[in-house]
Parts: sequence; C-alpha cells; structure tokens
Amino acid sequence: MRLFAAYGYQELRPPVIERTELFQRSLGEVTDVVQKEMYTFADRSGESLTLRPEATASVLRAYIEHGLYTAPKPVKLYTIGPMFRHERPQAGRYRQFHQINAEALGEASPVVDGDVIVMLVDLFETLDVMPRLRLEVNTLGDEACRPAYRARLVAYLRQHAGDLCEDCRDRTERNPLRVLDCKNPACQPVLDAAPRLQESLCADCAAHFAAVREYLDAAGVKHTVNPRLVRGFDYYVRTTFEVVTSHLGAQNAVAGGGRYDGLVKALGGPPDPGIGFAVGMERLVMLLDGPADRRRPDAVVVPLGRAALLQVAPAVRALRRVGVWVETGDPERKLRAQLERAGKLGARFAVILGDQELARRVATLRDLASGEQFEVALDDLAAEVQRRVRPPA
Ligand code: HAM
Repeated sequence: MRLFAAYGYQELRPPVIERTELFQRSLGEVTDVVQKEMYTFADRSGESLTLRPEATASVLRAYIEHGLYTAPKPVKLYTIGPMFRHERPQAGRYRQFHQINAEALGEASPVVDGDVIVMLVDLFETLDVMPRLRLEVNTLGDEACRPAYRARLVAYLRQHAGDLCEDCRDRTERNPLRVLDCKNPACQPVLDAAPRLQESLCADCAAHFAAVREYLDAAGVKHTVNPRLVRGFDYYVRTTFEVVTSHLGAQNAVAGGGRYDGLVKALGGPPDPGIGFAVGMERLVMLLDGPADRRRPDAVVVPLGRAALLQVAPAVRALRRVGVWVETGDPERKLRAQLERAGKLGARFAVILGDQELARRVATLRDLASGEQFEVALDDLAAEVQRRVRPPA
C-alpha cells in the first residue's frame, strides 16, 4: 500500500455489519444488490442489520459520523476487507469476496477523478497485470441532464419492447439505465442503437468528462469510452469506470468505480462530492501468474546435530529480523536429506554446519544454483548472507 500512501490515502477499517437502512438509502432500493443479494438479519433487539455488500456506504457513514470532513479536502481513505453478496456462485463470483476500496471525498474537480483512475491503473501496473486489462470510462451525467435522457431512453425502450428480453422489459420500468448493461445477445441490436447519454449531456457534465479524459491522456493512461457502462448502484453521477479483462470468463470486471456527488448529503452529511473505486481481490489474484510467483526462501540452514543448531540460532534470528527468509533444517536428519529439502524449497543458499565447522566456528555457505561454496566465520554469517541476498542498491 506504499502506492496508495504516495497518493495521500489513509487506511480506514469500518465494521463488516451496518444497519440495513444505510445500504437501502445509498445503493438504491431497486438495485439487484439491495433487492436480492444482501445478507440481512434481525439482531437480538430486533434491529435490521446487513453484512456489507460493498464498502462505499460504510466509509461515508464513518466520514459523516466521525466528522472526518473537517480535515483538508479531498479526504482520501482506503479500506481492504470482506464483502458479502448472495449471488449465484461461479468462477470469479463468490458470496464472500474481498475488495480493495478507495474513496476521495470533498472535491468536485475532474483532477480528482483523474488521480483516482491513474492510481487504480498504477496498482495494476505495479502488479504487472495491466497488459491483460482494459480501462473503460463513461459519464452518467447529473441531475441537470440525466432525467431528460432517462425519459428519452424509456420512450425508445418501450417502443422496442418486443425485441427485448423479459429482464430488459422489467428494467425499462424500474431502472432503465441498467438495461444498457444487458448481455443477452438477442437484445444487442436494440441496445446498440439506443440514444446515448453523451449526446444529451449538459455543458458542465460534458466539460467535466472532457477534462478527465484529457488528464488521463496527459498521464499516459490508455482508456476507451464505453457509452453502455452504467454500473450497478444508483449513487453514481458523472464519471464511471471499470477495469475489465477477457481472461476471466463471464466475470470480466476486475475493478469498478465512479463519482457519487450528492450521496454524502443524502446520508445526512455535508454537501461533499466524492469518487472512488473497488478492486475485486479474488479476480485480481486469478490474473496473477501462478507457480512462477511461488516465493522461495533466501537460505536454508543445515545443522548436523543439536550443537550446530544452537550455535547458528543467533545468526538465523538476526537475518529474519532484517527480513531475510531463512528456514532451519532438522538437526537429527542427515546432510543429504536436509539438502534435498533445501532443493525442493528452491532456496538460494544452504548454510551447512557440521562438527568440523563447529570446531573452527565457521559455516559452509553453498550457492544452490551454481554449486559454488566457501567458508564464512560464524560471527560474520548473518552479514554475509544478508549482503548476498540483498546486495546494496
Ligand atoms: P462493484 O462494481 O459492485 O463496485 O464491485 C467492484 C469489484 O468487486 C468488481 O469489479 C469485482 O471485481 C468485485 N466483485 C463484486 N462482486 C463480486 C463477487 N460476488 N465475487 C467476487 N468479486 C466481486 C462497488 O462495490 C463500489 N462500491 C465501488 C466504488 C467505490 N464506487 C465508488 N467507490
């Protein structure tokens, strides 16, 4: 999380359980998550509680309740932890999953949108997965331009209801923008030709979106505009974005986010705008390379007898304290068995201590890749191993 710190983010750890009402009010009553996917139960005093399906609502509750908005803006908070949604489980979709979530609160400037998106891309670049990902952006307009667009869209969808699936017809009446997200192949011709919000944006929203894109271009962040990117919660306005992949089957979104100006106020706080994102950690892990990433010990200590183990113990401890990964062998086992284990673990060095070495207070340091070996005085052992596994920059 050194990256997030460089962008000025601090960690917040909100609780996993919140009042149900918090999610109903923030995510939207007619969203799939609120209608079908929340783990909701009554506690012993009859109060309705919910296992959080996402983190934004909890972060905003904490922001309001603990007066975090009095700090210089934007207030930047990140949180990592489990989320719960009662979805149909399948590869990449779980009922308990984990998110890395970031929110920047209190600033409406498109620069903040740009920085939030660049930080997300930087996270993926640091992990070397960006070549398998694509950044899509869109704008959803605001209360000035969205209602008129919504009306145009509903009129269009009703007109073409006969060519749409039942789900789309149902959503046309309840949550029309979500229709644009339908993946049913039969609906695509109608949806591709649907009116686009880009064409009905008010001047402020159009300028905001242009400024975000200009900033991304200047920062060297490649992105495509997906006019059908609508996201699953009602709190979004203006900028929305997703990071998608074609490497995870049906579950193509690795991260998603957007602006939610008005939400802090709707939850009883100051009129502070906000923007943020969440990364699905399980999906991210699935994209990382498998076995090639296996960690290997820096050194395996091979003590031949108990006396040898006791002699080398201070050096082992000193190395671990400076972050060198050291495994110790079983002193009762033979040299060959211990070296075999070191080989299986893929260690870089073996540190061998037999009776002869002990008598002279030295150890044999063997480079397991080249087979090269030499003696090191026990008193210099920790420094020598450390120097070899972590050469000065
Ligand atoms: P979301 O798009 O619902 O957004 O979730 C973000 C990411 O969480 C998804 O792109 C996906 O990688 C992962 N995810 C969601 N559901 C599951 C699941 N059932 N199993 C595995 N992974 C899953 C949000 O949650 C917003 N709160 C993001 C945000 C923050 N917007 C503004 N600030």
